[in-house]
Amino acid sequence: MKQTSRAVRRLVPQVLLAGAVAALAFGAAPAQPDRAAPQHLRCEYLKNPRGIDVTQPRFAWWLEATERGEVQTAYQVLVAASPEALAKDDGDQWDTGKVTSNDSTQVAYAGKPLRSGETYFWKVRWWDRDGSPSPYSETARFEIGLLRRAEWQGRWITGNLLRKVFTLGGPVARARVYVTALGYYELHVNGQKIGHSVLDPAWTTYSKRILYRTYDVTSALKSGPNAIGVMLGGGWATQPVGGSAYYKAPALFLQMNIRLANGREVDVASDGSWLSHAGPIVSNSVYNGEVYDARLEQPGWDRPGFTASGWQAAQVVPGSAGELSAEMMPPIRVTDTLVPRRLTSPKPGVYVFDFGQNFAGWAELHVRGPRGTRVEMRYAELVYPNGTINRENLQLAKARDIYILKGDGRETYHPRFTYHGFRYVELTGFPGTPSLDTLRAEVVHSAVQPTGSFIASNPILNEIQHLIHWGQLSNLMSIPTDCDQRSERQGWMGDAQVSAPEAAMNFDMAAFYTNFIRDIHDAEKPDGEVPDTVPHKYGNYPGDPAWSTAYPQLCWHMWQQYGDRRILEENYEGLKKYESYLESRAQNHVLRYSYYGDWVSIQPTPGALVSDFYYYDDTHILAAIAKVLGHTDDAQAYSRLAEQIRAAFNSAFFNPSTGEYANGSQTANALPLFLHMQPKDAGGAVAGNLANDVLYEHNTHVTTGFIGVRYLLPVLTMYGHNDLAYDLATQTTFPSWGYMVRRGATTLWELWQDKTGPSMNSHNHIMFGSVGAWFYHSLGGINLAPDTEGYNHIVIHPHVVESLRWASASVDTIRGRVSCSWRHEPDGFELQATIPVNADATVAVPQEMQMTNVVIRENDRIVWQDDHFVPGDPGVLSAKREGDEYVFSVGAGSYQFVLAAQ
Ligand code: BGC
Repeated sequence: MKQTSRAVRRLVPQVLLAGAVAALAFGAAPAQPDRAAPQHLRCEYLKNPRGIDVTQPRFAWWLEATERGEVQTAYQVLVAASPEALAKDDGDQWDTGKVTSNDSTQVAYAGKPLRSGETYFWKVRWWDRDGSPSPYSETARFEIGLLRRAEWQGRWITGNLLRKVFTLGGPVARARVYVTALGYYELHVNGQKIGHSVLDPAWTTYSKRILYRTYDVTSALKSGPNAIGVMLGGGWATQPVGGSAYYKAPALFLQMNIRLANGREVDVASDGSWLSHAGPIVSNSVYNGEVYDARLEQPGWDRPGFTASGWQAAQVVPGSAGELSAEMMPPIRVTDTLVPRRLTSPKPGVYVFDFGQNFAGWAELHVRGPRGTRVEMRYAELVYPNGTINRENLQLAKARDIYILKGDGRETYHPRFTYHGFRYVELTGFPGTPSLDTLRAEVVHSAVQPTGSFIASNPILNEIQHLIHWGQLSNLMSIPTDCDQRSERQGWMGDAQVSAPEAAMNFDMAAFYTNFIRDIHDAEKPDGEVPDTVPHKYGNYPGDPAWSTAYPQLCWHMWQQYGDRRILEENYEGLKKYESYLESRAQNHVLRYSYYGDWVSIQPTPGALVSDFYYYDDTHILAAIAKVLGHTDDAQAYSRLAEQIRAAFNSAFFNPSTGEYANGSQTANALPLFLHMQPKDAGGAVAGNLANDVLYEHNTHVTTGFIGVRYLLPVLTMYGHNDLAYDLATQTTFPSWGYMVRRGATTLWELWQDKTGPSMNSHNHIMFGSVGAWFYHSLGGINLAPDTEGYNHIVIHPHVVESLRWASASVDTIRGRVSCSWRHEPDGFELQATIPVNADATVAVPQEMQMTNVVIRENDRIVWQDDHFVPGDPGVLSAKREGDEYVFSVGAGSYQFVLAAQ
């Protein structure tokens, strides 16, 4: 490693300590003779996925190089039907040969037809800009699910505990189980739970599509008798409130395909030959929790030797005619275990455990006591001043689990078919006196990988980031939900669309949103109506335009973040139908229908303005999608329509004499500014009014709801009021994010107000977390270049604030890690950035105030002096001064710019 500069050495320990290791890379290491093999191989955004039903899966890989400016000039992918063939570089299914291309993402399989149930092995190598090849990557694999309905031989069956015994006439060479349910299932084979997923399958519009998972059960089976056991839970159809139920009773659909070592094939499927019995889960409901009577356990029920006395034939039911499709996204899992921070007893026999963090999941109980003892755990986000739990905001959700002891020593229980949003657990009926070890809490959510880190020298920002992180995860439960605690937890689309830009920075959302977009597509009506919630249970058809906009917004987001053209192709007709629906409802190009407007705002904004803004945005997005897909006529037509909508929007809502939109609320002015909808030259006036409203009318506070807040800070930054945006972000008095932190929040609230009581006041909603995107883009400086996708062109442009000493952000993009860290130094300014191989960037280094005669060094080499770019530094291609910033064009690599007075 080369000698690092004094300033850089000082930065290292602090930032490392702060946990942002990922964001930093220092200096250029000595050149290495060999290219590193591709890393981080993904297929359909997943690592070694098992059971995908895509016949042309797409591959992606990361490249690493120590030299700067490295690009891939060619690649070769090999796909083989066996690891042995692949080891011999024999791509017997697909050998691309050397393809001259810099594509390292979205490379679609185009080999021999892929067969149901088969596993394929793949690897890739690349050629660098000098034409030198790398070694092949390590072997990755993917496995195809069941592509045809006819391959499922079973029937839908219902029951509580289900069981099937079968005998295998020899050792097993390979076995797969394909399994789904209406409701939830837990699958056991020979006494073991299979897989680590919980609350499976994902919630979908069951009449349209049901998701199955594929498990490798080769090692769970043996020669001789084997047993499959399945517990079924109610899932989403048996809730106390809500619209249409999708099924009457939980049901199982399962197919196990076994190949014996002697070559014989054996299939086992769910059907009327299975047996069924009542089980220990006496009742279960997502909202109400479980009642588990351990006295009703049937020890050995999921093993072959069990005597199934009293078991009945399982009932075959119609189930669902929906398409069986592979669940190709991270499963819901227990991702963490929390230890209680505090245990109090506010009343005799009543114990309250405080886990110190609001989150989604459940408690695990450890107990010994007499048979029949009934222990109850009730969950809450809040406590009253006297220490008892406050559950007034849970609406109809009973949010409790009851465990009845069997009385044979130490018993451990956690529920299976429910989840709760909570920080506190009240324990009653406990035999004896509980200790902190009586309960653990398990954190449960869709196990998306964290991909981002943001940290800054002002702790309030880090505390808000903490709230966003936990709030976001709590609200990923196979679909993006609004909240996790009360009798709601729906896929509210407004919440999903405002939080998506933040979520995509913090987590790998590619597979999750791919699935959710299918859900939206499934929920769209033939006339293009898209509902408020997906799957539709709450709210309206058609949805509020600020909610249903999630359809175009998320599709476009998949393109921008991941370069996913296929999603645009697959949804183009659906999006056009949606757009036509909006058109049919607009009058003179103004779309006015609205139910929620700028929901939960402090100052109202006309709903029609919000709806019409999205009508413009949706049309604009449609034009952009049409352009990407090469539908030139459509692109022109949508662009023309967008222009008409813009003009009509301004006629309807803009007041040229005051330079304000509608009632001049923050939201009314921020929305059009975000998309530059204002009449030519009016931007300064509108933005000035907006800034004045924030600063003088509201003493640096937000008045928006959750729609407006997505745009407020970005707009202030965009129009030259970044310091004000920063002051809003770090405000700690009501209403603000910092106010939530100061009032003890550990996740974001639904309301700006610190409200309790029976009204709507969830303490774990994600939608105000949209500010997280501004953290990464504006303070952290990580941005896509305009009109580009998938991080092939990056803009590193931190909007630095004088009073913030440093900030550091990194994002693992589809192409590799992008990072930016900056710091004010007493004698200058320092910025470090990392750009992945196969990408390029502009890096804006801001001028420090009052500094003249600037010299900028990059890794100790002068790159700017006497107001000129000084060429010669590897990877730094050019530079220019733009106002108060010095903008460098760079290739891939890690850079450290230090700006100082000469
Ligand atoms: C949800 C919101 C949602 C809204 C629609 C509420 O009950 O919790 O987050 O978007 O309804 O107005």
